[in-house]
Amino acid sequence: MNDRTLRVNSWNGWDPLRHVLVGRADGTMVQAPEPAVQRDFPDDGFPLGSYGPMPAEMTAEANEQLDDFAGILQRRGIRVDRPTPLDFSQQVATPDWTQESMFGCMPPRDVLLTVGNEILEATMCYRSRWFEYLAYRPVLQQLFDADPNMRWEAAPKPRLTDASYRPGFWETYNKVPLAEKLERVRNHDLVLTEAEPLFDAADIARCGKDLFVQLSLVTNRSGYRWLKRHFPDHRVHAVTFTNTHPLHIDATWVPLRPGLVLHCGERPAEPELVKYYEINDWEVVEAVQPASWKHYQRLSFCSPWLAVNILNLDPQTVCVEETEVRLADQLVKYGFEVVPVPFRAVGPFGGGLHCATVDIERDGVLEDYFPHRYGRF
Ligand code: ARG
Repeated sequence: MNDRTLRVNSWNGWDPLRHVLVGRADGTMVQAPEPAVQRDFPDDGFPLGSYGPMPAEMTAEANEQLDDFAGILQRRGIRVDRPTPLDFSQQVATPDWTQESMFGCMPPRDVLLTVGNEILEATMCYRSRWFEYLAYRPVLQQLFDADPNMRWEAAPKPRLTDASYRPGFWETYNKVPLAEKLERVRNHDLVLTEAEPLFDAADIARCGKDLFVQLSLVTNRSGYRWLKRHFPDHRVHAVTFTNTHPLHIDATWVPLRPGLVLHCGERPAEPELVKYYEINDWEVVEAVQPASWKHYQRLSFCSPWLAVNILNLDPQTVCVEETEVRLADQLVKYGFEVVPVPFRAVGPFGGGLHCATVDIERDGVLEDYFPHRYGRF
């Protein structure tokens, strides 16, 4: 049935939230090795080269927290949609390659980017995530049918042949000294080549007219250039942070409302980016240290900085993982109401509260929060 009340609209991460997508943990896999990513969890039963479904009890616990989170949002009057999981244990192939497994559909933020009335399917760069958009197609089809103004877009499907990856990257990168790693991050000399445009949607932070694209292990310059041409009415900026494993901007640089961005201080931003925010009257706030994540490091490829992976319900209200009490206190001091959400069990499935969601509708219109230019910005 068509639902005429559905509307795709979201220009930033803080306007009042009306409709959101929340991921599912069902069938998530520890991926088989591939050029872009190599899982190695020798102490948790998945040494390098092995792969298979996440343990059933971990999946069940993550799903319980995801369902509870969906319930919290629904009780606040926010409409929630969920993806349709596929059999992620199946082998997948294109004419160019075969991959032993898929991944999952917990972090929808990685795959889908909402800009205004458009939802864009990202290219992705892991072969195991090439087909992940299929889990979101039922929701996208429904939105397309219901909202006559929705723009449904997909970036060019990448070939992901060996030409897209630097040969032997992980073997050498894992061994080089810290300073050299950071130099490579600064020069964006990482696993991806520039053979074709590649980006994950979660490497983009949306602030109205400004889109900040992190160059990372999953986003290359060509991906950034594609985004820049795709959004000609925006200012699209490429940014890097001092972080040996840059992967998704939403645990590093998190705009919370006009004039306030939360920053993971362990991953310093380029001075020019900070200056651009400051001359536009934004305060750059360094987040307090996260609580310990010891218990949930099992099979996790995320860091404790998932703490700052916050979801705004509106410019005054934020969902924060419930054990991040110090961070909650910090945000209360900045005038936020904090909604605590138990979410630690979801971390090993690829992220926190922001990663686990995609905006479908927020109130608000396209605004310019950065009237002053600075340097390359
Ligand atoms: N790489 C980040 C960290 O471990 C996690 C970000 C996850 N974000 C996401 N959209 N999946 O600090």
